[in-house]
Amino acid sequence: MSKLSIDDLAIFCKKKGFVFPSTEIYGGMAGFFDYGPLGVELKNNIKNTWWKTFVQNREDVYGLDGSLISSGKIWEASGHLSSFTDLLTQCKKCHKNHRADQLVEDKLKINVDGLSGESINKLLKDNNLKCPECKGDLTEVKSFNLMFPVQIGADITKDSTAYLRGETAQMIFVAFRNVVESSRVKLPFGIAQIGKAFRNEIAPRNFLFREREFEQMEIEFFVKPDEKKSPLLSKRQSDLEFLFYSEEAQAKESHPKKIKMSELLKEKLLTEWHAYWLAESYLWFVELGVNENNLRIRQHTKKELSHYSSATFDVEYNFPFGWKEIYGNANRGQFDLTQHMKHSKQSMELFDEDTKQKILPAVIEPSFGVDRAFLTFIYDAYHDDKERGNVVLKLHYKLAPVKVGIFPLVNKLEEKAKEIYHMLREEFVCLYDRSGSIGRRYARADEIGMPYCVTIDFETLEDKSVTIRERDTTKQIRVKLSELKHILEKLLKGEEFGKLGKLIK
Ligand code: GAP
Repeated sequence: MSKLSIDDLAIFCKKKGFVFPSTEIYGGMAGFFDYGPLGVELKNNIKNTWWKTFVQNREDVYGLDGSLISSGKIWEASGHLSSFTDLLTQCKKCHKNHRADQLVEDKLKINVDGLSGESINKLLKDNNLKCPECKGDLTEVKSFNLMFPVQIGADITKDSTAYLRGETAQMIFVAFRNVVESSRVKLPFGIAQIGKAFRNEIAPRNFLFREREFEQMEIEFFVKPDEKKSPLLSKRQSDLEFLFYSEEAQAKESHPKKIKMSELLKEKLLTEWHAYWLAESYLWFVELGVNENNLRIRQHTKKELSHYSSATFDVEYNFPFGWKEIYGNANRGQFDLTQHMKHSKQSMELFDEDTKQKILPAVIEPSFGVDRAFLTFIYDAYHDDKERGNVVLKLHYKLAPVKVGIFPLVNKLEEKAKEIYHMLREEFVCLYDRSGSIGRRYARADEIGMPYCVTIDFETLEDKSVTIRERDTTKQIRVKLSELKHILEKLLKGEEFGKLGKLIK
């Protein structure tokens, strides 16, 4: 894998216009980022691909776009106002805040997932840990709630306090009845949403990994509560093999091992619906090009399970700062609908045609972070190609921010090149580049992950043909101008390069 540090990746992303630190001219704000011209394209491609796969290409998942600012009643019912906390300790000398569990992990190199505030406090004291900034003494550990409050309207009373949503999921539970009543749904079905979530993280860090404002792509998939089988579970999911870090292996501090999903099912570590969604989500990353050697699935230990979950599995990526969660898949059971039913006094039950009874659905939740997916795709795609002497961003063609570069070999050919550019940009995101040597232009194209470049030369004027260059192999084919659009369409659907034109030696 690439030896690139996360700070170097952040520098690269800024230089190329993928991601900028937010509010930089005023000194920046930790945990907030702006996506630049290329970043917004890549991010939109991630979201569009996800939406196409999990909503538009399915008949059983419905879309939603809930509000960002949400009533405190939602978060009281969901348990976030009482339980959505991290452990805070402050330096008595420089007053810097630290996330206590991260500080212990960093200093003692141990896994403290799920340890109580009391145990973390004891570890801080027993090991005489100090402020990493100024070596000052640290305060007792206390819980810090991550929800961002906002005041609505002019009436500053407690009741007017709302919150920026801490997860998109709750908006789905709250809109559940409206979707059910408007969309003729039938169990099992899902409601999906892409959108911002906000968490007042104590210590945002590692570039896009831990932010205070980020985006999620979540599905709440509703099933009959006693349904043991998933009719959708097929060989595709049960034969899926992956690196698995079980709770047992974590307790013994032994290594993760290769396992098939069918074995996890046999061991009853998860339900069939849970296995189905875990596999489909893992495969989404793989089918978009992420190297499987850099992925693993980790089972949450009992101690670290969220207050709403009976079983959670994370997909983790091997970042330079360790194996970290990029996707979480919880079995939320009936927790959320029960809570909202109790607090809103509105029924969340559905009529089951089979048993002729009302039932409260249970929920499996596949939860993706857009920004962590972005970080994963760009990190995994980054190749420092020593032979070429430049970076090659081997992004999957569906994700590449710019699909086609159009280059006139010399400025004299501009008129023809511009004509071709205008024709192609009707169809694809294109970039016209006339400056510098052709080699320099190819290098710039590689660096931003452009899968194909079209070069217009003097022969183009004579025989109406152009050269297409493939990013990953640098191979070139000669194709007729009249077929160019069609061939690029085929390439951007995954057809083999060498078969679509005459290879140039
Ligand atoms: N609804 C369940 C939920 O929110 P989570 O594990 O807290 O679960 C789900 O978050 C996903 O959201 C994570 O896998 C990650 O990709 C993303 N995410 C969570 N916190 C984040 C943060 N502070 N910065 C960036 N992404 C974050």
